[in-house]
Amino acid sequence: MNRLNPGMILGILGSGSGSNMQAILDAIDAGQLDARIALVLSDNPQAYILERAAKRGIPTRVIDCRGFATKFPDEAQLETAQQLKEAGVELVCLAGFMRLVKRPLLDAFPQRILNIHPSLLPAFPGLQAWKQAVDAGVSETGCTVHYVDDGMDTGPIILQEKVPVMPEDTAETLHARIQVVEHRLYPEAIRKVM
Ligand code: GRF
Repeated sequence: MNRLNPGMILGILGSGSGSNMQAILDAIDAGQLDARIALVLSDNPQAYILERAAKRGIPTRVIDCRGFATKFPDEAQLETAQQLKEAGVELVCLAGFMRLVKRPLLDAFPQRILNIHPSLLPAFPGLQAWKQAVDAGVSETGCTVHYVDDGMDTGPIILQEKVPVMPEDTAETLHARIQVVEHRLYPEAIRKVM
């Protein structure tokens, strides 16, 4: 990697553990992704993703969602967009971010926001897609990296990969199997859109 040109500047939004962010960092460290994470934002001050980022010396911020439990208010989206721009972010990666991104943020990064979703979209959009797959009794599900638009998990697909569902699977065992694939697929999708 050319040290004078650190590659694509990424911003990450997450609400939880941040294992996908970790996978992106690992791909960067392994020289498989010419990128740098400049800022990690979370709507959840307790999220482990913030701790993971801080341990790596990556700047973090908590998004102030004005007390709303699930909504991503416009003011918070504008602040998020401004912070990402100030950090020089060129590509925004949602990694387990639990709020719907709408116009204020989409308009600031047109066609530059990606999401990873644990199903073969358009099947099982929305929450706990792995549990939806187990409940539906399907024999195959997967994961998808897609561009974010103003729908729920509806944007154009960049990459998808299938994951088998075993008869003995619980929601948890299936999610763990999907996550192994997610961790490979997200860095690959980022490379594809760079
Ligand atoms: C992943 O399964 C992702 O597909 C979904 O939320 C989960 C986030 O996991 N959107 P992590 O925080 O990256 O570990």
